[in-house]
Amino acid sequence: MNITVEKSKPLKGTIEIPADKSITHRAFMFSALTKGKVKVSNFSKGADCISTLNIIKQLGCNIDFCNDKELIIDSSVALKAPSEILDCGNSGTTTRLMAGILAGQSFNSILKGDMSLSKRPMKRVIAPLELMGAKIKHNDYKLPLEIIGSPLKGINYNSPLASAQVKSCLLLAGLYADGETIFSEPYKSRNHTELMFEYMGADIKTDGNTITIKKSQLYPVDIITVCGDISSAAFFMAAALIVPDSDIMIKNVGINETRSGIIDVFKSMGGNIEIINERLVSNEKVADIRVKYSKLKAVVIEGSIIPRLIDEIPVIAVAASQAEGTTIIKNAQDLRNKEADRITAVQTELSKLGADIQETPDGFIINGKSELQGNCEIECYHDHRIAMSAYIAGLICKKPIKINEFQWVNISFPEFLGLVSKLIS
Ligand code: S3P
Repeated sequence: MNITVEKSKPLKGTIEIPADKSITHRAFMFSALTKGKVKVSNFSKGADCISTLNIIKQLGCNIDFCNDKELIIDSSVALKAPSEILDCGNSGTTTRLMAGILAGQSFNSILKGDMSLSKRPMKRVIAPLELMGAKIKHNDYKLPLEIIGSPLKGINYNSPLASAQVKSCLLLAGLYADGETIFSEPYKSRNHTELMFEYMGADIKTDGNTITIKKSQLYPVDIITVCGDISSAAFFMAAALIVPDSDIMIKNVGINETRSGIIDVFKSMGGNIEIINERLVSNEKVADIRVKYSKLKAVVIEGSIIPRLIDEIPVIAVAASQAEGTTIIKNAQDLRNKEADRITAVQTELSKLGADIQETPDGFIINGKSELQGNCEIECYHDHRIAMSAYIAGLICKKPIKINEFQWVNISFPEFLGLVSKLIS
């Protein structure tokens, strides 16, 4: 699907952001481990989470859709050997977390993925899982992975990466491993696994950036309510900040501190952002966020804040092109291992629009403020976040832009275009 984006009038009004992708994956997978029934309310309908749902079905879970917003996962007879290959689609989270679950089972399984996922590095989970005793056949540390279910033992792993996917993979394997599994990371990555494990009764302790888990059974809680996705809200926050005279309210957004780096960065750029009605939903912090058009100034983004906003960097780069001064983004080299090489993709596509952006090995140097010209064709690189970031840039271009293959948005945010038109109608 190719679309055209034109210069926008101000964004006005209120929207509710759909469910968080990271938390939905975990709600589906962890419910599948309870040997009971769990209701998941307000789950993400993005293709990535549907890949996870299909896999837990293949592993023996019964899924009962109560209505459009709620489903019940019954894992009384799960997990059992799948009769077919498990397809992770485009989803790195599905692959890496499922690898942790499957490594310690008493059956074998195979994980595969689409073209983009099949190029992504899996050594980051295979190597520590092997230290725990896992047996995994792989294609030079890429998909497909053949996982031979094996007894696991706890390890003390000092991860070189601050990655929630690696951490969650090992904590899941730790549920099945004899003894203690201890995981440390250089900076704190998103902690949804730890919070949901606590909520479901696992024997888990957090001390700074170190997590310890003992072999445990997750218990079936009555309901997990998934809050809105701050990574989706990010596109509307950026749009309201850069489209003159905008003033929007985004409701029900997860503001877990390990995810809310974008709010800190936009505030330090001079963004007019108000956090209202803070509350706790299924052990996660949630709020409504009001964002108004603002004169932005450049910032330096580096170090421990990077994992707190890793998925938002493409759209932060769009906002930085509208900030006075030189924005520098460093220590974000793992962006090259996402659905696309997001450093090269953002640099290439924003340059086409007329932004002054240079790529570095681990980030960007962006000189603002540039008047974006548009009048060009944008590629998405099979990457939902590149597609939506380009769309937001298109809202302030002088001339219309065409975005090719915009359907990649459906990976995380099928409701995106509907919500945009609600705010600019
Ligand atoms: C995710 C963790 C992050 C993030 C991804 C989702 C998760 O990846 O980029 O979109 O749900 O655990 P890394 O763990 O590779 O940083």
